[in-house]
Amino acid sequence: MDDRDYAMMIRKIDELFDLDLRSYKEGQMRWRLSTFVSRSGCESTAAFVGRLSRDATLVDDLRTMLTINVTEFFRDAAQWRTLRESVLPDLLQRTSTPKVWSAGCSHGGEPYSLAMLLAEAGVRRASIVATDLDRRILSHAKAGGPYGPKDVVSVPPEIRASAFEERDDGLYVGAAVRKQVQFRELNLLRDRFPTGVDLVVCRNVIIYFTDDVKTDLMRRFHEALTPGGVLFIGATESMLNAEDLGFSRLASSFYTRPNPDMARAA
Ligand SMILES: C[S@@+](CC[C@H](N)C(=O)[O-])C[C@H]1O[C@@H](n2cnc3c(N)ncnc32)[C@H](O)[C@@H]1O
Repeated sequence: MDDRDYAMMIRKIDELFDLDLRSYKEGQMRWRLSTFVSRSGCESTAAFVGRLSRDATLVDDLRTMLTINVTEFFRDAAQWRTLRESVLPDLLQRTSTPKVWSAGCSHGGEPYSLAMLLAEAGVRRASIVATDLDRRILSHAKAGGPYGPKDVVSVPPEIRASAFEERDDGLYVGAAVRKQVQFRELNLLRDRFPTGVDLVVCRNVIIYFTDDVKTDLMRRFHEALTPGGVLFIGATESMLNAEDLGFSRLASSFYTRPNPDMARAA
């Protein structure tokens, strides 16, 4: 896809989805878009853009391709074990009413996993906010299902037995877990972030963004966190400039915004 066609796609996608492709890694995005355009059977990018105006299914398919909603409950089990066994217990020493934000929550597997761990830890008054820019995936998340066997493969068996209910069309998260999570639409590139958050979970979202955008988001996550709060990122992600951004590394995939009061007391 040449520069002129890519610029045309940038304009159309911004108009359709309020999504600024200039924040996403360009090489990867151009390749994905040109593959998508050629698979659509359209002979040119201009023809593809024209078809978008009269083909709602194509618009939906394009949104699905762009947002990459791949997710699952307790995705990357080793990191969730660290959260369950060490990060969360430490965090709960600091507050018994934690505020948690799952940013880029997709179909809800991630925030519901958080709700399950907090319930297991006996937390009664957690606030779990889960956000995504994709309205369609948020309606699936709000409905609490249906989920298939692959979605729940990493759920610890002792949690799985009590947290889900089986219905004709698949598994649903039980009402007690569901009511712990508030879902809402939020575009990380445009919208204001929640504040006073004790645990920000943003996994497998920023990998698609340019380095500058990544750094900017990390700065904004830092601001969103309370002192002592924790950022949980994806298993394949890393934050090379963590210290420059004011974070300290707690464990693989976990960073904290240091609490100056604790440092003074030590
Ligand atoms: C690959 S999924 C990751 C889901 C989950 N966090 C996980 O690790 O399993 C990426 C999600 O990020 C969302 N996303 C992509 N760009 C976004 C943006 N600018 N603002 C908010 N969400 C975004 C997508 O809609 C998608 O649901």
